[in-house]
Amino acid sequence: MTNEPLWPPHRMWFGGDYNPEQWPREVWADDLRLMREAGVTVVTVGVFSWARLEPREGEFDFAWLDDVLDGLHSAGIGVDLATATASPPPWMALHHPDILPVTRDGVRLSPGSRQHYSPSSATYRRFAERLVRAMVERYAKHPAIVAWHINNEYGCHVSHSYDDESAAAFRSWLELKYGDIDTLNDAWGTAFWSQWYGSFDEILPPRAAPTFGNPGHLLDFDRFSSDALRELFRAEAAILRAATPEIPITTNFMGFFKGVDYWSWADDVDFVSDDSYPDPADPFSPIFAAASRDLMRSLGGGAPWVLMEQAPSAVNWRERNAPKPAGMNRLHSLQAVARGADGVMYFQWRQSRAGAEKFHSGMVPHFGEHSRIFRETAAIGAQLGGLDDLIGSTLHADVAIVFDWDAWRLLEQQAVPTALNYREIVLGWYRSLWERGILVDFVHPHGDLSRYSVVIAPAMVVADTQTQEALEAFVDGGGRLVMTASSAIVDEKAHIHLGGYLGELRNTLGLGIEEIAPLAGPDLAATGQAPVPATAITGEITGEARLWREFVHPSTATVLSTFDDPIVGGWPAITVNHRGDGRAWYVATMLGEEATDALVDLVLADAGIPTTRERGSTIEVVRRGNRVFRLDHATGEAAIEIVDEVGDDTA
Ligand code: GAL
Repeated sequence: MTNEPLWPPHRMWFGGDYNPEQWPREVWADDLRLMREAGVTVVTVGVFSWARLEPREGEFDFAWLDDVLDGLHSAGIGVDLATATASPPPWMALHHPDILPVTRDGVRLSPGSRQHYSPSSATYRRFAERLVRAMVERYAKHPAIVAWHINNEYGCHVSHSYDDESAAAFRSWLELKYGDIDTLNDAWGTAFWSQWYGSFDEILPPRAAPTFGNPGHLLDFDRFSSDALRELFRAEAAILRAATPEIPITTNFMGFFKGVDYWSWADDVDFVSDDSYPDPADPFSPIFAAASRDLMRSLGGGAPWVLMEQAPSAVNWRERNAPKPAGMNRLHSLQAVARGADGVMYFQWRQSRAGAEKFHSGMVPHFGEHSRIFRETAAIGAQLGGLDDLIGSTLHADVAIVFDWDAWRLLEQQAVPTALNYREIVLGWYRSLWERGILVDFVHPHGDLSRYSVVIAPAMVVADTQTQEALEAFVDGGGRLVMTASSAIVDEKAHIHLGGYLGELRNTLGLGIEEIAPLAGPDLAATGQAPVPATAITGEITGEARLWREFVHPSTATVLSTFDDPIVGGWPAITVNHRGDGRAWYVATMLGEEATDALVDLVLADAGIPTTRERGSTIEVVRRGNRVFRLDHATGEAAIEIVDEVGDDTA
């Protein structure tokens, strides 16, 4: 072993989940041959191997894994070794059914698929920790290992469990947070509907109930559930860190995944990694994928990350699973590198012959190596080898979008003014910036805003004092802030900001809101298929206003556009408030594409940020280090140009 640090790597990670236990040993040698041919540098081993590593309770069998790791090492391939705790073996559920998670409706889930453990199960955690200790004892010094891969996609299938053990853990979490029950009663507003609690012992998880649950209760259970998973991660990480501080640790995130607040996890991993499965049949996929890449980079504070999983072609878990057309695999891979990834990996190396994912594509498909998928994948491996000098390089964004899991959770609760989709709203703004070639960071509301010229805070329904002060300071420091409807309506306890919503942001924005006036179509509840209800705005910016309107009272703000409809006609739809060199725009609705674009153009021009892309162009252009990536999502073609300047910037 050399003493060089394992992260950042010296070669781009390229490879995938490798599950040799699914195959007879004869195939293993062929795997190594093909991996070398494809330019594989790293594989993730052992993600679903627990039943093979501990076939009976307390009885470990590492011999086969020794051979796998030795073989990979002799082929020069690094191993991202999974702790294998993602899917407990059948014996565990049989002998210790207390590990099984329970749904909101009280159904205790059975084994037979994967991830069948309650995040708060002490039994599961004890077994997981024992396995991790055995793994690290065995492999601490193995020269193939380049990283530890803890568990797999925490919360993917079970992000919340409503079992009794979770109930007890939730109560402890609440007690720690609130200290005494009166504080909790105040926070949750339990004066309403006779929900007052006499002690913490009376509190249950928000199980299926006759009607709407208490918003504070629901929000805290979401926060608790994310934390419970993080505790599991931390327990494994502590064991690994103590034994092998030199081996970096990651766990694979899932992009915009509502169940887990990744901001609160990001500091716990040595590098961020992500699983990304944009639908090849969805024309919005390049934008969605770009946003996921930018989120991953942002979670790590700009540090390089790894695309840990993507599909070489079709997945098998949508109703209809489109293959990737020629070029798309390469485009998605290079897009990740352009947006800060130091590795591109797949699920999985060899397409399974049996089991629930046998119709999911693999780098080596059922047909074998003489296939379009293998050829294209190997070509990507070769191309990545030529980008090793980009490793470690970072990007700089002038524009940030505020992204907040609490806003997501609250906005999509029941009993709100109208049903909204937070991710869709955020991606609506992202789309406009992406189409203009503007690199975007995502930022937590408490993050450092001073690095940006423009900050957009879409539907940020919750704003505590710190957030209000940070946004005001940003504007007072000369920043350009855009806030949209359904923002800062409540505080961190989900209590209304009385007297015009927005809290202190009323000063920043120069307005207050008298009333929320959603748009509604008669069929929405009945079919869910009704067109998005919309109206019009007119003035400096014209176009469509969707879903949401407000009756806005400007104080110091100037009105740019007004609503043009029978209910809020003539009331402000878009305003701007000047504070020193800074400006704060407010949009009292969800703008259609045309109006979003017009406002984005106006704000970028005002901030002096040039747009680099021609309108209507399908070519995504991103600069990282001394490379300019041109990714044509219409033709599938990708070009990488070497430019003179080396630095932290984008095209
Ligand atoms: C991921 C998971 C992999 C595999 C893949 C299929 O969510 O981590 O194990 O199931 O999806 O697309």
